[in-house]
This record gives sequence, structure tokens and C-alpha cells, in this order.
Amino acid sequence: MKKNYEERIRTLLSKMTLEEKIGQLQQCGPSLVGAFDVSFDELLNMMFDGRITREEFDRLMGTAEQDFHEDDLRAGKIGSYNGIGDSAAANRLQKIAVEETRLGIPLLFGYDVIHGFRTVTPIPLAESCAWEPKLWEKTGRVAAKEATAAGVHLTFAPMVDVAKDARWGRVSEGAGEDVLLNADYGAAKVKGFQGDDLTKEDAMAACLKHFAAYGAGEAGRDYNRVDLSVQRLWEEYMPAYKACIDAGARAVMPAFNDINGVPCTVNSWLLRDVLREKWGFNGLVISDSNAIAECVSHGIAKDKRDAAKQALLAGMDMDMSSNSYVECLKELVESGEVPERVLDGAVEDVLRIKFELGLFDHPYQTNEERESVCMLTEESRAIAREAAVKSLVLLKNENHILPLKSDAKIGIFGSLAADKGQMTGAWAIGARPEDCVSMVEACQERGISCQYSEDGKDMLKIAASSDVLIAAVGEMKEESGEAASRADITLNREHLALVRDLLATGKPVVVVLFNGRPLAIPELAEHVPAILEAWHPGVEAGPAILDVLFGDVNPSGKLTTTFPAATGQCPMYYAHINTGRPGGKSKFTSKYLDAPVEPVYPFGYGLSYTTFAYGELKVEKKEDAVWVSVSVSNTGERDGEETVQCYVQHVAAKRVRPVRQLKGYEKVGLKAGETKEAGFMIPFAELSYYDWDMNKIPCEGVLRVYVGGDSRAELMEEVVL
Ligand code: NOJ
Repeated sequence: MKKNYEERIRTLLSKMTLEEKIGQLQQCGPSLVGAFDVSFDELLNMMFDGRITREEFDRLMGTAEQDFHEDDLRAGKIGSYNGIGDSAAANRLQKIAVEETRLGIPLLFGYDVIHGFRTVTPIPLAESCAWEPKLWEKTGRVAAKEATAAGVHLTFAPMVDVAKDARWGRVSEGAGEDVLLNADYGAAKVKGFQGDDLTKEDAMAACLKHFAAYGAGEAGRDYNRVDLSVQRLWEEYMPAYKACIDAGARAVMPAFNDINGVPCTVNSWLLRDVLREKWGFNGLVISDSNAIAECVSHGIAKDKRDAAKQALLAGMDMDMSSNSYVECLKELVESGEVPERVLDGAVEDVLRIKFELGLFDHPYQTNEERESVCMLTEESRAIAREAAVKSLVLLKNENHILPLKSDAKIGIFGSLAADKGQMTGAWAIGARPEDCVSMVEACQERGISCQYSEDGKDMLKIAASSDVLIAAVGEMKEESGEAASRADITLNREHLALVRDLLATGKPVVVVLFNGRPLAIPELAEHVPAILEAWHPGVEAGPAILDVLFGDVNPSGKLTTTFPAATGQCPMYYAHINTGRPGGKSKFTSKYLDAPVEPVYPFGYGLSYTTFAYGELKVEKKEDAVWVSVSVSNTGERDGEETVQCYVQHVAAKRVRPVRQLKGYEKVGLKAGETKEAGFMIPFAELSYYDWDMNKIPCEGVLRVYVGGDSRAELMEEVVL
């Protein structure tokens, strides 16, 4: 049962000085001093934007001294740290907080554990392609066990920003373009991170982000403005955040962007009216990095002081990295510009999560021994492999090139086939390249007859003695993630040239794609006989890819994001509206002159080594729901899994509705020749929508229900509601 800590919170609050209260709202990271002349944030920046390599970053981190601002800590001026994933350092600082500060309030340690800590699992976009909530929860648990062993109490995850624009680099961090999938993914991750009891040593509080609609940045450019109708905001973006709150997420990170002119950081409608009043949230609201001070650049605050005032009044509890609260709040409260009661509310939220995590009773939740035995266990590696295998999406398989015969002689090309450090993708701070198994290494481990050339050297010689050629191409991990938007999402020139040269040898070619976002690859789709989308699959990359290439596992992943044919089509997503002139053959329809109407690979799409057939679709109106059922048969010769997807379209509504919306999905395991029934109960409430005046109205009249293996499903029945 959830405990109530309100009495203890009030008692403690009554003993706190103004400075101590403000100190609780301060989160900082260690600064690096000594070896170089930049801040830790800047160093991170340099690594992410490629000015230094990951290896140089690690080396500098190793040589530099870290300044943990211990004097400030002793003086009660720090409530939380970000970026310390090391139990010894965490416990040392915790000891200062508990034993040397006046009130002994424990610290809260936050960290970006996005897709695993040491055991790096596939990037979230990849993992979502498994369409499997239980798996998402399981990998969240693995992450929590490891991160908490390293002293972490709270992760800045899950990110449930619905992302419809493939140019945005952070599509890699979420569950793709669909709101239902993001909601399910987020809720499962929250459960996985937090477990069933937050006071347990391996439970980690989830901080959902980025609230709200960060994925809707104009033109897919990171940090850009968001201009959305309120209806779209509520129908297409908010449900995913709400699902995480309902799943019990104890923290929220407001987004960098503005929504219709007001940055989320100082948006009291968002943080008070919606989050706290409407949704009943009483957890911690923590700013994104430096976001409070950045309200000055937004042009909404005149200076840092004004930004601090607006943020606190709007409901921002904790300041990550901008020092705005520690520098300005004292004066703001003393002058009466910010009522002390508002400050108290923020402090209560910080204390509450510390109580809920059990930190007052057990401030040291881990130690070096636990840390040393918890990382990268056999069990967690097995889960990482399962997740990686299930994330792979077979995009093309002409003439059954795949699976390869176990004695096939293969030639492998491209640096991504051997570069271990690239396998983890964006946002994997705790990752170590040596933990990852590359494709080439996995081939050696399996004793596969394979020749490898990183740059295409000896191509003809290798081709002559190989049965099949594999090209490992796509994106480097720095090409997706934060601050990694791209104005051109085609395959880079060298990789394309490599694939063309391989095709020219006349040998069968398989492309394995490593990337953090959809790529526009019409040429590959047309000319390469087999394509496997591997994303950035994590520590078990190589073994997982070989499992599928050699057919130990039948691929079952399905895309959760549309693959456009050209960058200019972005944002391209399946749940669009039709317009009065839907794109078609005739001239005056909604389309581009120089790109097709259809994507290269649609949402929901993915092949298997077997085939599936759908039986009769039955749609029935029940008292307060629509019941949909269909039989699915495995018509091939191998056992396999099919993700049955159910979409709806409301044909005549009070506001135009998307051509299709995903309302249910079920992964069905089918033995060769087997038939099973899949069913979806869609409550009327989930079909309702907002009218012009923001009243929630029921879906009435004709509803089309489509069922099939991807978003182009043709099996359709109508029902009148
Ligand atoms: C900035 C990112 O937007 C956010 O997702 C992350 O959690 C913070 N930095 C902290 O590292």
C-alpha cells in the first residue's frame, strides 16, 4: 500500500530555513576541473556534436578531477545531483548530506538511463518495434537493477514524445509516431523502472519527459517551436504522458519547447492546471538542463531572476543545472514577489519523492559490492539479446535470400559491422564499447565462414569466394539523438556507394541497417534483395542479428515509424487526415511533383520467414464498446509471430479524423499451419474526440475497422455507432 508521508514532510519543512528550502530545489552535476578548460556540460556537448570522440571523452573524464561542490552541499545548498552513476561517489556525497548538513536530508541522484545502464538494450525506437509491453517492462527492470546498484535513484525516462518527423534526431528515444504505442511503451517502462515498491533498493523513480509535445518541433529541428491546435495536442500527444502518470511515474520533466508561445518550463497551464489539478499529480517536476535560464533566450523572461520567478510560480519544483533558483529565489521570496507558500509546495514535492524512495530511512541503498555483481549478468545479457532480436525488422526478402544456410560463405562490408562502440546508439552514458558484440565478432564466435572488409577493399576477391555479401550501413550513433536533427535523411554517400558496388558484383546482397531514425532509402528498397533493419541494437547486437540472418529466430518486428521515400515528405505518418484532395494520380491532389504519395515502408510493416493469412473480419457493436475479431493463420512452413493490428476510421465526423488510427494490437504466436483468433475490445470512450470548442464528443455514425499486418491493412468492415 502506498504510504502517506505528508505529516513527516510538514514537520521537516517547518524546521527548514529559507536557504535550506531553496537548496532542496537545486540539482547540479559535478564540474570537471584540471585536465581541460570546459564545463562538464560543454564536454558532453563536444562529444555529442563530434568535436571529440567518445574515447577522448572517456580519457578526459578519467584524467580530470571532478568538483562535486561539496562546500555547497555541506551548507545545504544542493538537493540533488545529476550524472553520478557510481556507488562510491554517490555514497560519499550522501554521507556528507546525511551527517554534515544541519537537517541531514538525503540527496536524490538522477541519471539518464534511457535504454539500459551497463547492459545497453536497443534504442527505444527499436524496442518499440517488438510491440510487446511485457518486454518493455522487463528491460526497464534490468536498467533499474543496474542503475540503482550504481547509486541512481531516478531516471530521466521514459521519453514518450510522439514523433512524426523523421528529421528529428530524438525519434530514437521514443516509441515512434503513434500515440497508443507511446502510451503503452511509457506505462510499461514506468512499471519496469519503479517495480512494485519504490522503497526497494532496486526501484528507480521514473521521470517522464518531455512534457509536452517536444516531438512536434517545427520541421523536425531539435529545440524548435511547437505550434499545435489544442485538439491535436490532446488527441495525439497528451495521452502518452497521461498514461505514464496513471502508471505511477513519480517525476515529470517539462520540455524545452514552447507550446503556442509559452515555454513548457514556465507554463502554469501545463504544470499546474493540467498536471496537478486535472491529473492529480503530486510528484516531482524537474526542469530540463538549464531550461529555466534559457527562458531568457526564448524571449519570455527579462533575466534569470524573472525566469526563476516565472518557473517557480508555474510549478517547476527543481532547477537542473541553471542555478537560477539558488541565485535568485531568496530575494524573490524576501521581497514578496514569490509567496513562501509556493516555495514550500516545491520543497514538499522534493521531500515527498525522497520519502517515497525510502531515502530518509535508508540513504545508502547500494555499495560497491552490489555494484560489482549487478552489472551485465548472464540474465541481463539474455534479456538484451531477446530485446534486440525482437526489435529487428525484416524490410525486404526477395527470393528468400534469408535465412542464410548455416554453411553459407559470407563477405561482410562496412565499419558498422565491427565497430562495437557504435552498437549502443544515442544516450547510453554507462555503455562501454568492450561490452558490445559486433556482427563480425559474432560470426567468429559462431564459427561462420566469413571474410570482412571495413572499407570495401578486396571486394571483388571476397565476392568471388562468397555466397552472399552483407553490407552494414546506416547512421553512426552521433547522427541521431539529442541535437542530431538532419535536413537530409537519405543514406550517406559512402554507404550508398558501397551498396552499389556490392550489387555490381552480381552476388546476392543483404543490407543490415544501423540507424536511430527512419531513413529515406528508395534505391535500396528497389535494388537490394534483402534488407534487415537493425537500428542501434545494444550490447547483444551481433548475436541477435545473426540469430535472424541465419534463421535461428524468425523475425517478428514491425515498424513503429514510417519510412518516407524522400526527406521532403517529412513529416510523414500513417495517421494523417485526408484533406479534400487526397494524394492520387490526378494533378490537383495533395502530393509532391517529385516524390511518390506512399512511403517506402509504412507504419506497422515488417516481414517474417513465414506467411500469414487473415480470415473473416467480424465487427460487432456492444453496449459501450466495439468488438473486433479475426482469425489469423500461419500459411508457411515455419513457426512465427504476427502482430495483428486494428485500425479505425471515423468517416463523417464533426472534425476531420485521421485516415487510420491504431486502436489495438496483439502479437500472436503461430505454429506452421496453425490458426488462432485475435480480438480487440475498443471502448466507445477511446473513439471519442474533441469538437471545435474542446468538448469531448462521441464517435457517431459509420466507423470503418481495418485489421491486418500493417497500417495498409485492407480487410475492412463498417459498423454504425
Ligand atoms: C537534456 C535532455 O533534453 C534531457 O532529455 C536529459 O534528460 C537532460 N538533458 C539531462 O541530461
